Amino acid sequence: MEAPESADHSAKHTTKAGHTASASAKNSDAKGTDAAGHFDFIVVSNRLPVDRCSADEAGCEDGWRRSPGGLVTALAPMMTKTDGAWVGWHGAPDETVEPFSHGGIDLIPVQLSTNDIELFYEGFSNATLWPLYHDVIAPPEFHRAWWDSYRRVNRRFADAVVQHAAEGATVWVQDYQLQLVPKMLREARPDLKIGFFNHIPFPPPEIFAQLPWRRAIIDGLLGADLVGFQRSSDAGNFMRSARRFLGASVKQQQVHVKGNDGDTTHIARAQAFPISIDVKQITELAQRPDVVERAQQIRRDLGNPKTILLGVDRLDYTKGIRHRLKAYEELLQDGKVTVEDASLIQVASPSRERVEQYRLLREEVEGTVGHINGTYDTMQNTAVRYLHHSYPIEEMVSLYLAADVMLVTALRDGMNLVAKEYVTARTNNDGALVLSEFAGAADQLKQAMLMNPHDIDGLKDTIMKAVNMQPAEASRRMRAMRKQILDHDVDLWSSDFLKALAEKVVRDDS
Ligand code: G6P
Repeated sequence: MEAPESADHSAKHTTKAGHTASASAKNSDAKGTDAAGHFDFIVVSNRLPVDRCSADEAGCEDGWRRSPGGLVTALAPMMTKTDGAWVGWHGAPDETVEPFSHGGIDLIPVQLSTNDIELFYEGFSNATLWPLYHDVIAPPEFHRAWWDSYRRVNRRFADAVVQHAAEGATVWVQDYQLQLVPKMLREARPDLKIGFFNHIPFPPPEIFAQLPWRRAIIDGLLGADLVGFQRSSDAGNFMRSARRFLGASVKQQQVHVKGNDGDTTHIARAQAFPISIDVKQITELAQRPDVVERAQQIRRDLGNPKTILLGVDRLDYTKGIRHRLKAYEELLQDGKVTVEDASLIQVASPSRERVEQYRLLREEVEGTVGHINGTYDTMQNTAVRYLHHSYPIEEMVSLYLAADVMLVTALRDGMNLVAKEYVTARTNNDGALVLSEFAGAADQLKQAMLMNPHDIDGLKDTIMKAVNMQPAEASRRMRAMRKQILDHDVDLWSSDFLKALAEKVVRDDS
């Protein structure tokens, strides 16, 4: 049994304030906000879509810069059109930042203390939920103090929304860090339209069963009118868990959610909405002369090898970096590739560095790279060019253009947008994508070289097929994949979701 909800009912307070104030929202201006700062559309995510920066950095405005990524690009037009707001953590521990506006978006910062970061963010979000939802590749840890913090912090995000949402506003909650927020909002503000999107996989009930607080999580998510997932298998897993752990009666991926009095409060639906990328941005960059020239420069810097292979990941154990390195090392060992002919660039951007499993992974990956390079490098050539950095999108696109073969070997991944960016950047329809069947992107990119990264021999064969692929076949595959992505960019993703959220659901009580 789950522990009862925390005694922290502050959302209820704010509700009152919110309601009183939002009554005045009736006189809201044409853009949908009122003088008291109530918004008709609110996005909530753990991180705000901005990063701190210093004045001399490109794109820095008043100490903030828009963070990279499709989500903010997809939602920015909607935000500016409806004058919506974004609620999230601003990235600095223990610091209170007042609401501010950046690039036409109203931002409402939520404060996280050092303790919240340790328990809610590094603990429950990234050492309990993250491994649990990614096939327990690393063992999840279950600590009651982490769970208590998760609930408290979710309540704080919900409070911020309640305080700033106009009557009948649409609220879109993002990702696994905030799964309790939908129900908290539903209880405090039944007038809201509530959507939730899970960017990472949702595990099968057999794995989800391990979570001591499994009922509270399902209950939290069912507070939403629409729960979106990357793959239809994720939506199916969620509904199977709702049935198994809450006894919910699920029909056509819908649940009639009941309140304390036993009456149906709303219908919660689960559906797949595969996320995508900002196609226009990547295509434009891929054709910009300086970006193209930089790609050639990268090839020259590596000694113009016949083949450049590329991996781009957050340094995360779900990404299969070790499996990729193992396969590549064996190919060098077998003499199938040589350092004169081929070079592997591995970009591993720093991530969650205070979480133990991430520290261990870094040691292991860097040890392996050192071993491979020590064994196979020559004075002129390097086997693996390892870069533990993050790069701006311009440099990423140059890398995509420089790479003949892209390696996406995730052991489990909600989507994997790197795969979609690579394909989009290949405007000449050349290059090859080796893609794990365990990445959500495999559902859409069926013409990729799909493989199981646990099968090292299979991975080696697939890499060699990609290296030796005839241009005609590469072009056929790339064209089909590019068409898929060009027809389904991130704008379509967000508009499809919001359209479905706005739909009136017909109740079928039969
Ligand atoms: C994944 C998650 C996001 C998260 C991102 C970076 O893509 O789905 O919610 O923001 O990783 O991780 P971080 O822990 O740095 O926010």
